[in-house]
Amino acid sequence: MADTLGMAAQIANNALRFSWYSGINWLMGREAQRLGPRPRYIPERPVPSEAELMADLRALFLADAAAVRDGLYPPAEPAGSLGRHMRDLRAMFDDLPATVQRRTQADTASAAAVADANGLPDYYTQDFHFQTGGYLSADSARLYDVQVETLFYGAAGPMRRAGLKPIAAFMRGKDQREVALVDVACGTGRFLREVRLAYPALRAKGLDLSQAYLDEARRHLQGLRPVELICANAEQMPFPDASCDIVTAIFLYHELPGAVRRRVTAEIARVLKPGGLFVLIDSLQMGDRPGWDGLLEAFPVRFHEPYFAHYATDDLDAMLSEAGLDAQETSQAFLSKVMVARKRGAN
Ligand SMILES: C[S@@+](CC[C@H](N)C(=O)[O-])C[C@H]1O[C@@H](n2cnc3c(N)ncnc32)[C@H](O)[C@@H]1O
Repeated sequence: MADTLGMAAQIANNALRFSWYSGINWLMGREAQRLGPRPRYIPERPVPSEAELMADLRALFLADAAAVRDGLYPPAEPAGSLGRHMRDLRAMFDDLPATVQRRTQADTASAAAVADANGLPDYYTQDFHFQTGGYLSADSARLYDVQVETLFYGAAGPMRRAGLKPIAAFMRGKDQREVALVDVACGTGRFLREVRLAYPALRAKGLDLSQAYLDEARRHLQGLRPVELICANAEQMPFPDASCDIVTAIFLYHELPGAVRRRVTAEIARVLKPGGLFVLIDSLQMGDRPGWDGLLEAFPVRFHEPYFAHYATDDLDAMLSEAGLDAQETSQAFLSKVMVARKRGAN
């Protein structure tokens, strides 16, 4: 039976999150401007109108709700208390002066100064998004989700959940207890939480290079069946060949240099079983929506994203194919794209 109540709940949830985070986005922008006005960057390429952006956002929210109605995944459940959320928001505002100062001085070195940075690759130990401590501090892990949701007007959840649709198709007729999934670069575990809610018995693991982010993921997964969380580099994953049925990677690829992106893709192909599923979600690329290319041009100017420009024009289909992954379909979800591929070879 269609879950129309679930669909209504999902629409209400998304609408509420959109209103809330739009307000926070506006307040953050105003406060950032007060702290250190930055020259306005006018992209050469076209940008969408606000009406176009909002229409696309509405389409994303409707598709998310329709997936709940169709039983592809359950309605979203809030993780954590309102009190904790308000404290995280406050901490994000408190951190803003330091972030603005780093942006003004083009200083991206606070992550490299953290003790945990020893031995990690140089491409990683930078202050992505001008975050204090890059990915290497507990404070950064704590602020990450509210920062991302503020940036995307509360749409990060539905963009990630778009990855649950190909997983639902793959899972049809399978016993979830026998299916192994790894979320590569799982960060604070937001997608793993959605996976766990949809598939309580799946053999789910998360891997990330930041112990601080994995600790935050553990907190978000509290109360659900345990998920194994592993601190390791996606370039060398501690899993045997052909041991995973599903690998997901969300918002990772744009943060990797081109050569590392290829090594990680080869590693994902190595650990997947023949016929296994790879779901890649990341930013739109240049030309995906030509009228939106100006947004992709402006993004790495506003945020420290040293590899984004390369990512935005990288030939991902060719990269997947070279690694032995056959692209099956690509769809768009607001500012992100969802690429679905299968490991070459028999099922
Ligand atoms: C933009 S965040 C995305 C996190 C999460 N997937 C999400 O949906 O929010 C990028 C994540 O990639 C991780 N990361 C970056 N390079 C990595 C690498 N070589 N190996 C493992 N994790 C990496 C970072 O620690 C961070 O948690």
